[in-house]
Amino acid sequence: MGDGGMRKRIANILAAPEIGAQLQVGGWVKTRRDASGFSFIEMGDGSCLANIQVIAEQSLVNYDQEIKRLSAGCSVLVTGILQESPAKGQAVELRAMAVQILGWADPEHYPLQKKQHSFEFLRNITHLRPRTNALGAVARVRSRLAYGVHTFFQERGFIQVHTPIITTSDCEGAGEMFQVSASSVRQPGGGNVDFFGRPAGLTVSGQLQAEVYSQALGNVYTFGPIFRAENSNTSRHLAEFWMVEPEMAFCDLAGDMQVAEEMLKYLLRLALTECAEDLSLFDRFIEKGLSARLAQVVEQDFARITYTEAVEQLLCSGQDFIYPVQWGIDLQSEHERYLTETVYQRPLIVTDYPAAIKPFYMRLSDDGRTVAAMDILVPGIGEIIGGSQREERYDVLLARMQQAGIDPEGYGWYLDLRRYGTVPHAGFGLGFERLIQFVTGMANIREVIPFPRTPGFAPC
Ligand code: 4AD
Ligand code: MG
Repeated sequence: MGDGGMRKRIANILAAPEIGAQLQVGGWVKTRRDASGFSFIEMGDGSCLANIQVIAEQSLVNYDQEIKRLSAGCSVLVTGILQESPAKGQAVELRAMAVQILGWADPEHYPLQKKQHSFEFLRNITHLRPRTNALGAVARVRSRLAYGVHTFFQERGFIQVHTPIITTSDCEGAGEMFQVSASSVRQPGGGNVDFFGRPAGLTVSGQLQAEVYSQALGNVYTFGPIFRAENSNTSRHLAEFWMVEPEMAFCDLAGDMQVAEEMLKYLLRLALTECAEDLSLFDRFIEKGLSARLAQVVEQDFARITYTEAVEQLLCSGQDFIYPVQWGIDLQSEHERYLTETVYQRPLIVTDYPAAIKPFYMRLSDDGRTVAAMDILVPGIGEIIGGSQREERYDVLLARMQQAGIDPEGYGWYLDLRRYGTVPHAGFGLGFERLIQFVTGMANIREVIPFPRTPGFAPC
C-alpha cells in the first residue's frame, strides 16, 4: 500500500489508459455483479464521475471468502492489469491480481443504497453524501472554480488579502453578526473584560478591510468564509458561506461591472471546459439543457437597467407579486427573478438603487437619492453579486454614517482612508455558493457547500 507511485487515480487512468500496465487503485465499491467464474466490481475513487470496472476471477485466493461478500461502500485496494474492455459501457477494465478489502460496509446498515436518494435525505448524512455521484460532482466543480477565482484575479495582477474573520465592524450594518466576544478574560486585578476590549463578531464581509489594502496596493481581492445570523430559511441563504470580494482603486461603477461580468464568464467557461463530465451529470439529472444555458450566458452581454427602470417594468408587468412594488422598496427575490428569467432571460445588472435601502459605504450620486450600486441577477437564483462604487468623500461618508445610525468612533480607521490620499474605488461580492448553484443547477444552496449551516442546523 505504501507504493504511491504505482497507485493511480481513476481520472488519470481514464484520461490516458496504459493498456497492459500493472496498476493499483484504491476506492469504494459501487456494485458487485457475479458471473460464472468471476465477478464484476464497479469501483469509484472520487477523482472523477466515472467508475472503473474490476474483473475479479474465482482463482483469487479470497474470492469465495471475501470478494463474493463485497457490497456498496466497502473500501478496496485492487492491483491488476489494465486491459481493453470487450463489453460496451467502458473502454478499459482492470483485471485483478489481488483485491484487498480495507473496510467492510454492512449492507444491512449502509445508508447509501443503489436507488437515488433525495437531497433532503442526504443532508442528514453529510458525512456520507460526498460518496454519491451528485455531491461528489459538486465538490469537484466547487474545487475547480475556487481555484479559478484565484487564477482569474492573479492573472490580472490582483493581490490576495486575507481579511479577518473576527471583526468589530458590521460592514453591511444589518446587525446580523454572530458575536464572538461572549467569553471574557479575567483581569489580574479581578473582574472580567471583553476578550477584545469591545464586542466583536464573525465577519459579514471582508470588504472594509479589503478597501484598506486597495488604498495601498490598488487591485486586491479576498475570498473567505462569511457568517450571517439572518434567520432566512430559504434555498439561497446560509449562515456560513464563502464570498469573493475584489476591491479596485481608481475604479468607478462602470469598471466594477465590467470586472464582475468578465469574472462570471471566465468561471462559467472554466466549468464548461474543465468540468464537462460533471456538468453532463447535472444536465441529465438536475437541470436539462444546463450546459447549453451556461454556454449561452458566456456568449451574450449581460443586460443592464437602473433600479428606477426595474421598478417601472415591474409596475407595468401585470404580475401579482406577494410584495407590492413601488420606488424605494428593496427588490425581493420574486421581483429579481421575474426580471432576469421572464423579461431578460439572461443575467441582468441592476444599478443605481435608492440610498435609503443600501449600506453607508456606497457612493451617493448627484441626484442625492440614489447610490452607485449594482446587483447582478441570474435566472434561477436572483442576486448572485452585490457591489458598488465606494464613498470616497470624507464629509459625505461621515454624513451617511450618521444617517445610518453608525457611531463613527469605531470607524476612524475607515474614515482615515478618506482623509489621507483618498481615491475613487469600487468592488463587489460574489456569493460563491450561488455561483455553484448556477453552474450545477442545484435548486437548494445546502447541496453546494460540504457542510451547510442554517438556522437550527449544524450537525457536525
Ligand atoms: O450583497 P451582499 O450583502 O454584499 C456585501 O456583503 C458587500 N460588502 C460585498 C462587496 O461589495 N464587497 O453579499 C454579496 C453576495 C450576494 O450577492 C449573495 O450572492 C451572497 O453574497 N450572499 C449570500 N450567500 C449565501 N447565503 C447568504 N446568507 C448570503 N448573503 C449574501
Ligand atoms: Mg446584496
